[in-house]
Amino acid sequence: MLKGAFPVDSFRGMKTPFYFYDMDLLQRTLEEVRLQAGRFPGFQVHYAVKANSNPEILKVIAESGLGADCVSGGEVAAAFEAGFPAESIVFAGVGKSDEEIRLGLRLGISRFNVESEAELEVIDSLAAQAGTVAPVSIRVNPDIGAHTHANITTGLAENKFGIYHEELESVLRMVLGMKHVRFCGLHFHIGSQILDMADFVALCNRVNEITSRLKRSALPVGDLNVGGGLGINYQHPNHLSIADFKGYFETFARHLDLDPGQTVHFEPGRSVVAPCGTLISRVLYIKEGVTRQFAILDAGMTELIRPALYHAYHRIENLSSDEAEELYDVVGPICESSDVFGKGLSIDKCHRGDFMAIRSVGAYGESMSSRYNLRPLAGTLFYRK
Ligand code: LLP
Repeated sequence: MLKGAFPVDSFRGMKTPFYFYDMDLLQRTLEEVRLQAGRFPGFQVHYAVKANSNPEILKVIAESGLGADCVSGGEVAAAFEAGFPAESIVFAGVGKSDEEIRLGLRLGISRFNVESEAELEVIDSLAAQAGTVAPVSIRVNPDIGAHTHANITTGLAENKFGIYHEELESVLRMVLGMKHVRFCGLHFHIGSQILDMADFVALCNRVNEITSRLKRSALPVGDLNVGGGLGINYQHPNHLSIADFKGYFETFARHLDLDPGQTVHFEPGRSVVAPCGTLISRVLYIKEGVTRQFAILDAGMTELIRPALYHAYHRIENLSSDEAEELYDVVGPICESSDVFGKGLSIDKCHRGDFMAIRSVGAYGESMSSRYNLRPLAGTLFYRK
């Protein structure tokens, strides 16, 4: 949404900070996902709930027909309540508690993505107690690096995620010998905010290597889940407001060796919801430092932790001013030196009370918010033209 298109008049009565969600953009994004994935039979998309679990957002995504990828019992319950059918819910995570596993079994979710032998044994025994059979996929650690921030790379041998690919055969034999789990497929995820399709090509190549190895050993492969990770353009939220879903799905269609009828599952989070969210905040104070000028906002790392945690860039605009740009360190009010949204940013001259827009926060903004410093949780505005 262009700076001038934000409905600033409707912000005046609102308590800041709040998350502004452009629901038209979310709809257009979901249509694009459906269109592009729909070109390839067998491609199924599960939205990664961790990116944004706001009930209103979940409801719209559920209505669009996507499934849900969850990483906690709380997310499984939220997805179910928002209208995702249990058969479209998959549940991943390295540390599922007994209670969370029981919830998944009770609801009859479509898949447990299992990350260790120890977890597999627990699922088998809890499913036995419940008199049922748990559908499982094995999460494989493919030992592939993605060119993204170290904290959001997940597919390397040193990461805690998944079963190392060389141990897959023995774990698979273990699964096949169990009475209360049913083997359904393999799960992979290499990281997040990936913009270079070559990273996904590398994943496809590794998946092909692994599946042909399993077939040579006469072991089943089942369906494939290639995780999430498609990145968005944080620099130009207006020009490139919908991620490259076309290139993304085409990459997998071209590079994965699939058997007839084999399904491929995707778990995009960020690319679905990041662009539609903007954090709206007011300038509290302008402070002239010794070497720099600070714009102190009423939003902080409690509403958006990504800059503090990953040095992530989010575009910041002053919605209330057209005056000549000045340089600012844009900071929040939290008692932490890392509570900084950006340093030396060139922004239209700021005054106390101006509305500031921090862009592309729809993913991992609200869902990672906290009440640190006993701040209240920020509100929301769902905008439809
Ligand atoms: N599937 C699995 C198994 C995952 O671990 C993740 C994200 C996704 C799917 C969704 O990935 P996405 O499409 O959103 O990249 N808080 C960080 C991102 C952490 C991602 C964790 N896993 C951030 O703010 O950048």
